[in-house]
Amino acid sequence: MKVLINQEEIHRGIARLASQLHERYGNEPLTIVAIMTGSLVMLADLIRGLEMPVRISLIRASSYRGGMTSGELTIEDSDMLDIRGREVLLIDDIFDTGKTLAEVTRRLERHQPQSLRTAVFLNKRGNSVVNQAPDYSVFDIPNEFVVGYGLDYDDLYRNLPYVGVLEEADLAAHQRLHGPSK
Ligand code: IMP
Ligand code: MG
Repeated sequence: MKVLINQEEIHRGIARLASQLHERYGNEPLTIVAIMTGSLVMLADLIRGLEMPVRISLIRASSYRGGMTSGELTIEDSDMLDIRGREVLLIDDIFDTGKTLAEVTRRLERHQPQSLRTAVFLNKRGNSVVNQAPDYSVFDIPNEFVVGYGLDYDDLYRNLPYVGVLEEADLAAHQRLHGPSK
C-alpha cells in the first residue's frame, strides 16, 4: 500500500495540533467530543499531549455502508456528557463532504456549549458540500480513498500506524482475502 503520511509525520502533526489547542484554551477545561470509530486513534494520541483538564465524550456516526460509497448518516449520541456552558472540541478522522461534521455540530449546538470548535485529522480538499470548514485540520490530502490511523475500508485497516492510499491493486487483494465489500 502506498504510504501517504508516515508515523513520524503523524506524530509531529498531532503535537502541532496539541500546541494550537494550548494556545487557544490555555488551562481551561476542555470537553472533547470524539466521533467513533474513526477518530479513536487520533483521540488516544491527542489527549496524551494535552495539559489542560480534559473530559472525553464519545458519540457514534456512520455515513459509509462499508466500502467507499456514502450512505445515510446515522448518529448515536444517547450517552453524551453534558456540554452546556463548556468549551467543546468536536473531533473526527476526516472531513470529506463535510456532512457528518456539519450535522453533528448542529446537534451539539442545541446543548448550548460555551464554545464549539472542530478538529479533523485529515481534510480531503475539494469535496465539501457544506457551508462549514473545520477549525483545525492536521493534514490536507488530495481526493483519494485512504485508510489507517483510525480510517477504515470495510471496517478493516484502522490499526495501520500510517495513512495509506487504497489503490486498485490493494482493492483486488482485499477482495481475494475478504470478498466483495458489503
Ligand atoms: P463526510 O460526512 O462525507 O465528511 O464523511 C466523513 C466520514 O466518511 C468519515 O468519518 C469517514 O468515516 C468516511 N470517509 C470519508 N473519506 C474517507 C476515506 O478516504 N477513507 C476512509 N473513510 C472515509
Ligand atoms: Mg467515520
